[in-house]
Amino acid sequence: MAVYPELKDKAVLITGGAGGIGIATAAAFLAQGAKVAIVDISADALAQAEKTLNASAGYLISIVADISQEEEVKSYVEKTVAAFGTIDVFFNNAGIEGKVAPLIEQNMADVDKVFAINIRGSYMGLKYVLPIMYAKKSGSVINTSSVGGLAAGPGQGVTPYVTSKFAIHGLTRLTAVESAKYNVRVNSVHPSPVETRMMRSLEAGFAPEHEAEAKANIASGIPLGRYAQPSEIADMVVFLASDASRFVTGTPVRVDGGMLS
Ligand SMILES: NC(=O)c1ccc[n+]([C@@H]2O[C@H](COP(=O)([O-])OP(=O)(O)OC[C@H]3O[C@@H](n4cnc5c(N)ncnc54)[C@H](O)[C@@H]3O)[C@@H](O)[C@H]2O)c1
Repeated sequence: MAVYPELKDKAVLITGGAGGIGIATAAAFLAQGAKVAIVDISADALAQAEKTLNASAGYLISIVADISQEEEVKSYVEKTVAAFGTIDVFFNNAGIEGKVAPLIEQNMADVDKVFAINIRGSYMGLKYVLPIMYAKKSGSVINTSSVGGLAAGPGQGVTPYVTSKFAIHGLTRLTAVESAKYNVRVNSVHPSPVETRMMRSLEAGFAPEHEAEAKANIASGIPLGRYAQPSEIADMVVFLASDASRFVTGTPVRVDGGMLS
């Protein structure tokens, strides 16, 4: 992995930090010598993540919070600033897939939940983190969208999820324009399927009891012929946080093995 010396001792905040992509990204930032706060709704998953990351004390903290609750967003931001003094990098990443069903069969409570976490939760993260970055005139934000935030694609039955990921794409582009005068960059990553719990859930939703076929079918639509590893998303996030991407903002970055080429 590339080493970016400027990331040493930087304060990095990651939501969904106990999930597949979140843990891999936390590991990648810790390897750069950064201080990392992982936020997740699941205390058990956070405890497991801490064991996996096995970081030296003082460089990794974990915070239990539901990103769809404004008071909890305020609180996770305050706790990170209390621990590290500031926030230099925000990986606004937590999200859920919702239920797999055609639009006309979606239950509105399930739809509202996807929007509350993926859209409203990501929005509120920006609302509370950006003032800290604006005040010191530096920072890098990476929002997690999806290939599903750029194109309809072959996946059917995930309209709430795709709607939310298109929203994050739009949110990223306008927030980048608003933030540029403060020297704060805002980009989005758009992964194709990644080897995490989320794809196991979607494969089961697309083809109950035929998950392996569903996976093979999805992978066959990716020119590189396979799902991404979480570390491959993490490497891009670290690049977008580093000075190597200093002139990149408002950009939807595909990490998709050529899926949308
Ligand atoms: N896995 C994929 O194929 C894929 C592809 C494209 C985009 N993404 C996106 O990447 C992000 C991470 O997904 P992942 O693959 O690591 O899945 P994951 O399910 O392993 O991780 C998601 C994490 O978010 C946490 N979370 C869920 N709701 C929360 C809430 N309200 N507050 C705080 N934390 C909450 C979960 O507990 C979990 O640890 C998501 O936004 C997802 O939509 C994933």
